[in-house]
Amino acid sequence: MSLSYNELYRESIQNPEAFWAEAAERLHWYKKWDKVLDDANPPFYRWFAGGMTNTCYNALDRHVDEGRGNDTAVIYDSPVTGAKKCFTFREFRDEVALFAGALQSRGVRKGDRVIIYMPMIPEALVAMLACARIGAIHSVVFGGFASHELAVRIDDCKPKVIISASCGIEREKIVDYKRLLDFAIELAHFKPEICIIRQREQLKAPLNEERDLTWKQTLLGAEPAPCVPLESSDPLYILYTSGTTGKPKGVVRDNGGHMVALQWSMEHVYGVKPGETYWAASDVGWVVGHSYIVYAPLLNGNATIIFEGKPVGTPDPGVFWRIIEEYGVSVFFTAPTAFRAIKKEDPNASYLEKHDLSNFRTLFLAGERADPDTVKWAEEKLKVPVIDHWWQTETGWAIAANCQGIEPGPVKYGSASRPVPGYNVKVVNHEMEELKAGEMGDIVIKHPLPPGTMLTLWKADNRFTESYMSAFPGYYQTSDAGYIDEDGYVYIMSRTDDIINVAGHRLSTGAIEAELSAHPDVAESAVIGAADDLKGEVPVGFLVLKTGVDTPHGQIVKHVIEYVRENIGPVASFKKAVIVERLPKTRSGKILRSTMRRIANSQEYTMPATIDDPAILDEIKEALQSIGYAK
Ligand code: COA
Ligand code: AMP
Repeated sequence: MSLSYNELYRESIQNPEAFWAEAAERLHWYKKWDKVLDDANPPFYRWFAGGMTNTCYNALDRHVDEGRGNDTAVIYDSPVTGAKKCFTFREFRDEVALFAGALQSRGVRKGDRVIIYMPMIPEALVAMLACARIGAIHSVVFGGFASHELAVRIDDCKPKVIISASCGIEREKIVDYKRLLDFAIELAHFKPEICIIRQREQLKAPLNEERDLTWKQTLLGAEPAPCVPLESSDPLYILYTSGTTGKPKGVVRDNGGHMVALQWSMEHVYGVKPGETYWAASDVGWVVGHSYIVYAPLLNGNATIIFEGKPVGTPDPGVFWRIIEEYGVSVFFTAPTAFRAIKKEDPNASYLEKHDLSNFRTLFLAGERADPDTVKWAEEKLKVPVIDHWWQTETGWAIAANCQGIEPGPVKYGSASRPVPGYNVKVVNHEMEELKAGEMGDIVIKHPLPPGTMLTLWKADNRFTESYMSAFPGYYQTSDAGYIDEDGYVYIMSRTDDIINVAGHRLSTGAIEAELSAHPDVAESAVIGAADDLKGEVPVGFLVLKTGVDTPHGQIVKHVIEYVRENIGPVASFKKAVIVERLPKTRSGKILRSTMRRIANSQEYTMPATIDDPAILDEIKEALQSIGYAK
């Protein structure tokens, strides 16, 4: 008899080792673990210590060996090029093994880092899984990041090889990935030995003969590589995410804990059975892409979809429904912003009428708060449960969700539902006192975190401890604030740091401020996240100029917008900045960003008691009104 949510949750918290050992039995191990949880060196916990496994084997070969080689594993659908292709588990395993062999023949070994900077094409997955196969550590960098961001990541993880493509396609626009890559390598202090470029017919890239190979050249004469047995805690990947400073954090994921948690989540969080088609419309450059385009569906024996398009404009707001119908998608996962984009273009969901979605069971949303209007619209139009769930790059999978494979609870709008088994979630105040139901505070997770969550930050154990494990000893600090209600439902209300969320993408206001302050005429700057109907939040900049500057203001604003686009990337969607005489600060000099945000969003605010001059807030309001905010 299956256990209730409460029973399963209790079991996971009281007896985590037995709980996760049972889940791990479903996967293949070359050698079983000596200890389920090695807790000898907190906060550096290690799951399945002493176990030997291979994530790629479990994601591909295992299904072939178990007789499912002819089932569909990967579907590529690219409305921007018109290409469509399906791969079985056997076909994909063979592609991955051959590319892995090619990497080995070029000297890539266990522990070497490989950066992958690619659009949404099958080769991106082949490259990731090939690294996993031979124990190389991949670090995928999102294509919407500019050269400077890529260079920072190259210098941090020092890749032996970078794998990229000649171009990406953003609606009608061709993005020259190779040019961005070449410039990034020029900027970086560390230089990779080899770049492997998948040439696409939309734009052929010039090659540097000393360093670059095409994808095809790389495969010439290659032999398929077998899977290399790895320690459970050997790193599978590094994924950089925004921190509060300009320097991104390299989240490190292990092999064993990650595969166990992700496979378990497919069954219990998403309620998906092997053989079904599962689709996460994200990008491999984000954690959602790592976990739910690549690893989790394949580990669970599901077909996964690589979608090279957008919710709208490729070609119309019906593309999601077309794909769900065409490939018989059972469970679909995307960000609320994608639904807001569809709702804006097709408020009556008229495109839905052309499609048969009878196979479709559940919609999952994450990446940002799912606003109740969007959830209700999706429920009404799709007539399936719409499940908000909350997680972070650091955790790699959901912290709170309405687990469809256990015992779904009622949907409460505005809540990401109850903690997922494995996560002991609490809301506390700064004195570490647990708060009562309904009281807002810091959301923290008691150690040990479940398998699949980050091991550490790449070559930065101290930063890992300081950023996440020090403020609340014995707990992981999520940097999200919110509350838990009397039914145990978690409500995520805001970040407690300077991170903003733009179209489901996580950005550091500190990194944008650094770009603004780099302008020779700018003395000081501040960036806030202002509410946006489509993207949830967009960054808005405030510039204080140096005395005596006579450059036209419009020109300065134009330049800083270009700086952010050139150095951080178009994904920041930084389009608005305004020049002010001074910034509102506390007497101790702290910029009052949250008050500025409330003014921008036309929300009530209380005059901060520590403000040095209250009149500045009127100036800020006027400045914001001049660019369409604070109405
Ligand atoms: N490579 C290169 N450039 C990229 C890119 C990529 N992979 N992804 C985005 N960009 C560029 C876009 O072309 C755009 O450039 P522009 O300023 O020249 O127009 C800019 O970055 C912003 O892109 P995006 O955030 O996608 O905004 P948009 O206005 O083009 O589309 C949405 C808006 C809502 C349709 C889009 O943001 C979306 O589909 N969001 C889904 C969110 C998601 O998948 N989140 C992942 C976490 S779950
Ligand atoms: P990322 O690491 O890019 O996945 O971003 C993680 C952050 O996005 C979280 O810390 C939250 O602030 C926010 N977030 C993600 N999912 C949700 C959700 N379902 N509800 C509210 N906020 C969310």
